Amino acid sequence: MKKHIVAGNWKMNKTATETDALIEELLEQDLDPNVEVIIAPTSIHLSQATQATNGSRISVAAQNMHQAESGAFTGEISASMLLGVGVQHVILGHSERRAYFGENDSLLAEKVQAALKNNLEVIFCFGEELSDRQQNKHFDLVESQLRNALFDLPAESWEHIVLAYEPVWAIGTGETASPEQAQEMHAFIRQLLVDQYGNDCAQSVSILYGGSVKPANAAEIFAKPDVDGGLIGGASLNATDFAAIVNGFKS
Ligand code: 13P
Repeated sequence: MKKHIVAGNWKMNKTATETDALIEELLEQDLDPNVEVIIAPTSIHLSQATQATNGSRISVAAQNMHQAESGAFTGEISASMLLGVGVQHVILGHSERRAYFGENDSLLAEKVQAALKNNLEVIFCFGEELSDRQQNKHFDLVESQLRNALFDLPAESWEHIVLAYEPVWAIGTGETASPEQAQEMHAFIRQLLVDQYGNDCAQSVSILYGGSVKPANAAEIFAKPDVDGGLIGGASLNATDFAAIVNGFKS
């Protein structure tokens, strides 16, 4: 079933002490019980994050993962290592991974398959750059990102995939897609899923929006019918702001 989900991507922020403190503050917040809440601290803090959230309704995602099971890949982390410390989800395809670490669609297809094989839930990110939108290529670009990385998967796999549309021009810029722009793209994505996998599958996939979501704009974005939640960067580093976003579905 398609769910309401709010996930916090902490990126490369917070020390071990700060991670504990932020989780403690989050656990004190009054969070809408109808929203699945996920946090993604940096990899070195995943173990402490799963311990600190154990028994709570907050689950933990990794921000990245290597596609191999194990081996000579200095500095990398495998799916089974994530599972072993209690991680349930992995964010793959973030635009920062694509831009700064050269991750392309075919590598991401491998990573997605490795994650699913290991029973991790995938939060798959994609989205256009400003130049794509200015040239009216944003729909084509998004379609190719999804087709190349995900559309070879069988329909059953979609039970374990959440999509996160993150237009690159809206990430960390303070500029957000308007609720109408988000809805327009999410509806387009949903239709791609209908065409490829049928209506039942398409209606069961949660499609999150990411890019400068704040307490002030979350409710109007989440009110759109094809926006099922958010992937939050900067505002997820503050417990009260993150909680306000989680609770944005209420209003
Ligand atoms: P901001 O919310 O800081 O724009 O970041 C969005 C993002 O990249 C989440 O993955």
